[in-house]
Amino acid sequence: MDSFELNKILCAILLALLIGMVSHKIADWLIAPTWLAKDIYQIDVTEENASQSVSATGEEVIEAVEPLLAKASAENGQNIAKKCLQCHTFEKGGANKVGPNLWNIVGNKVAHSDSFAYSSAFKGHKGEWTYENLSHYLYKPQKFIPGTKMAFAGLKKGQERADLIAYLRTLSDTPKPLP
Ligand code: HEC
Repeated sequence: MDSFELNKILCAILLALLIGMVSHKIADWLIAPTWLAKDIYQIDVTEENASQSVSATGEEVIEAVEPLLAKASAENGQNIAKKCLQCHTFEKGGANKVGPNLWNIVGNKVAHSDSFAYSSAFKGHKGEWTYENLSHYLYKPQKFIPGTKMAFAGLKKGQERADLIAYLRTLSDTPKPLP
């Protein structure tokens, strides 16, 4: 190979490198991304799910209600309880509707009423309506007692459940002591 041949080869290589660099620059310039000032898909971390988190195993962790009861407002709870009126009465001796009367429910046994036809899921569920059990039930009824016929999505905010439970607690001749 003479030096002229070698030069041609070197030239070809240089030219190829040059074309590569230039087209890279042009491509960069053509598809220069403009970053958005704001995410279009905002991940919704509102109060609605602020009290709910997920454990390392991926299970939902429901905020404990007992610490929230201390500053709970039974008055606000009565307001929230309007969501229940469609199916429940709250006064002493009140009628059963779609769901049982809820007078004296705090501390009572699950399926407390003798005059209400509970689902078999409910009848088979032993236990008492402690503050935490009520909170877990009201967080997501279908999760706490799978198969319950209470068609209620649940209250996700810990303080709302605390307020509501503080109100339920007052519905008794002898309200249970606060924890
Ligand atoms: C769409 C109707 C409906 C709504 C709304 C509803 N419930 Fe119920 N609830 C039921 C039914 C039906 C049952 C009985 C469940 C069963 O037998 O599976 C029940 C059962 C219960 C029980 C258990 C009673 C017992 O004797 O063990 C509690 C506590 C309760 N509901 C609280 C509430 C509260 C508080 C609300 C409002 C935040 C509410 N429910 C909203 C229908 C409803």
